[in-house]
Amino acid sequence: MALHLTSFGPGKVILLGEHGVVYGQPALAAPISRGVRAWAVPSSRCGIEVPESLKSEHASSLERAFRRAAKATGHPKVMVTLESDLPLSMGLGSSGALSIAVSRVLLEAKTGKPAKTADLERVGFELEREFHGTPSGVDHTTSARGEMILFKKGSVRVVRSPKPVRVLVAIVGERPSTKRTVAALRARQALWPARYKRLFLEIGRVAREGAAAVQAGDLDCLGDLMNVNQGLLNAVGLSSEGLEAMVNRLRRLGALGAKLTGAGGDGGAVLGLFREPEPIVAKLSQEGVACFVSQLAGPRAL
Ligand code: PMV
Repeated sequence: MALHLTSFGPGKVILLGEHGVVYGQPALAAPISRGVRAWAVPSSRCGIEVPESLKSEHASSLERAFRRAAKATGHPKVMVTLESDLPLSMGLGSSGALSIAVSRVLLEAKTGKPAKTADLERVGFELEREFHGTPSGVDHTTSARGEMILFKKGSVRVVRSPKPVRVLVAIVGERPSTKRTVAALRARQALWPARYKRLFLEIGRVAREGAAAVQAGDLDCLGDLMNVNQGLLNAVGLSSEGLEAMVNRLRRLGALGAKLTGAGGDGGAVLGLFREPEPIVAKLSQEGVACFVSQLAGPRAL
C-alpha cells in the first residue's frame, strides 16, 4: 500500500423524518462540511489508536466497532488514527461519519483501490450497529453518499436542488444517547401503536414532500415542512424546553423553518433554514451560541 492513506466521512443533518425512518418511513438527510478524518499507516497488525479525549464507554465501543470493521475488511495491516471536528452525540452523525471514514480507509488499504459505495455502506453498517444497536442506516448512508438523499430502509434516492439550500446549525447542549431516546420512543409506541403509526406515517409524508420542495427550489414550502415536522416530533415526545427555545429564537430571527435534528430528546442540535444564514450566525455567535452554516444542496458559489 501507499505510505499513508487518508479518508473523510462527513457528518450529517436530518432535514426531515428522523425517528419515522426507524419505522420504515423515508427521511431527508444531507452531509455537512464537518466530519471525521481517518489516517492509515503500515503496521504489523490491524489496529486503531483510540483518541485520549474519548470517555471510557465511547472508547470501548470504538474498539469493538473497529474489530468488526477489521474483520469485515480482512484485517489490512495498518494502524488507524482519527481526527474529528464534529461534536459527539449532538445529532450531527459523528458515529456515522466515523464509521465511513474508518471503513473507507480499511477497504482502500486492503484493496489498493477506491472503495465501492456498496462495500462502504456494508462495512459502515457493521460499525454503526455497534454504536447504535438498531440504527435505520440513514447516518452512515448519508456520509457514504456525500449528497442529499431521501433514505428509506432498503432504498436511497439522491435529491438535487436548483437553489442553494443552506441551514444554520445551532448546538443546544448535551442529550441522552440515540440508543436511549430510540428505546424510550419504542416503549411509548408499543403502548399506543395505532396513534404512533399515524404520526410516523405523517412524518414520512412530510419527508417526501420536503424532497419534492427541494427539487422544485421551493424554500418557503421546505421551511413550512420543517415547522410541521418539529410539531410532530414534539407530539411523539422528542422535544424539550431547550430545543423549543432555540426553535422559537430562530423563527423570530426570520428562519423559513426550524426544527431539532437527529434523535433529539433533550438537547442536541437545531436547524434553521435561512436564505442568508451568515448574519444570524454572526449575531448568535456573539451571544455565545455555538453555531455554524452548512450548505446541504444546490449550486455552490465558487
Ligand atoms: O444519532 P442521531 O442523533 O444522528 O439520530 C439518528 C436518527 C434516528 O432516526 C433518531 C435514529 C436512526 O437510526 O435513524
